Amino acid sequence: MDKLVIEGGTRLKGRVKVSGAKNGCLAIMPACLLAPGVYNLSNTPNLTDVWSMSRLLNAMGAHSELNGDNLFLDTRDVNSWEAPYEFVKTMRASFYVLGPLLARFGKAKVSLPGGCAWGPRPVDLHIKGLQKLGAEIEIENGYIVADATNLTGGRFNFDISSVGATGNVLMAAVKAKGSTLLTNAAIEPEITALARFLVKMGAKIDGIGTTQLEIEGVDELKAVDEEIVPDRIEAATFMIAAAMTKGDVELTNVNPYHLAAVIGRMEETGAEIDVNANTIRVTMNEDIQPVDSTTSVCPGIPTDVQAQWTAYMLFAKGTSKVIDNIYTDRFKHVPELQRLGADISVSDNTAIVKGGKSLSGAQVMSSDLRASASLILAGLVAEGRTEVLRVYHLDRGYENIEQKLSALGANIKREKANLV
Ligand code: EPZ
Repeated sequence: MDKLVIEGGTRLKGRVKVSGAKNGCLAIMPACLLAPGVYNLSNTPNLTDVWSMSRLLNAMGAHSELNGDNLFLDTRDVNSWEAPYEFVKTMRASFYVLGPLLARFGKAKVSLPGGCAWGPRPVDLHIKGLQKLGAEIEIENGYIVADATNLTGGRFNFDISSVGATGNVLMAAVKAKGSTLLTNAAIEPEITALARFLVKMGAKIDGIGTTQLEIEGVDELKAVDEEIVPDRIEAATFMIAAAMTKGDVELTNVNPYHLAAVIGRMEETGAEIDVNANTIRVTMNEDIQPVDSTTSVCPGIPTDVQAQWTAYMLFAKGTSKVIDNIYTDRFKHVPELQRLGADISVSDNTAIVKGGKSLSGAQVMSSDLRASASLILAGLVAEGRTEVLRVYHLDRGYENIEQKLSALGANIKREKANLV
């Protein structure tokens, strides 16, 4: 297992290219099951989660190859409608193949996702939505066994806005007979990008970008090429890194529209943010002001930025509240930050962060993807040496993060760790 070793105290300066979105790939790759064909997905990041999805699709008969940032995906020979537990347990987004498999084969056998570093993370909305389209779904030995020889359009309201459930149900609806109306659908950029990709494939979807999607089922879709949207969560992570190190960093290959809430909050902390068509420059010359943050569905502050914001507020001149309304117990990073000397208390879904203390480096343990990011951010500023262990969590969603941070002046390197 690798660890990242950081000597804190350097200001980040320079330019960093943001990679394609992990969650953009994990929505679009399953959609390539809907039409047998050859797809080229550009701006694909080299991440273990992308490899996990590729391995799953290959196990079903697809052929995939990542050349640079182009993912070649051939789904013509896909002949299996099963997603085994061995794949789903390593990455819950494997569950997103359920809808496309039903649309392609009229049946699917997909393992229920296991637990997560935080939770619960139910899939009831995926199931209810697909049932509204006529799928008959049983749960047998930890698997969803679904039969939908005649997917038919229907009306479904998502009681809770769900990225994954919206994607799964949408990918089934595009080939269901007749009309489907989805309300309270997720509008995260990765879902909007998925809907646009499906339309490029020949699907009929109105209301893209809104919470109300009207779909007219079609018989056939065709394979098309696509560019994966930039990763807004990676971008937010680098924006926070720039501000908390009092640096001056320009991010390229970003879509500022996907980061409006984060940009607004960061300006309240005193960061200067210069936005252009696909670049964002973050400069911080002031003391960091404490600013409360509450996560919500798009267009609010993403839950995937909550841990990074918590780390940021450790260096603010005052106390702030960080509330997660999406995952109320997504705070595994807090005990690790406390090992650096952080003064944070958590009750229910709220972390009270008492900023302004100087932190000192220590060995800390990653528990999940975004928690790892928050530990690295804190290590960039903490005095002395911080070692972030189990960075395999990080490699799921951040491409070459230590190279990117080093290029900005950070003192960070990857080392082999004893098995821990
Ligand atoms: C997606 O997960 C992302 N993953 C997550 O990013 C992200 O945190 C999450 O959306 C929220 O934005 C991918 O896109 C691969 P949800 P997903 O369904 O689809 C409840 C990262 O770090 N819910 O939008 O699983 C659920 O409990 C990862 O990149 C139900 O109640 O999330 C949660 O409270 C972590 N029933 C809320 O909805 C369901 O059937 C949002 O979950 C489904 C969800």
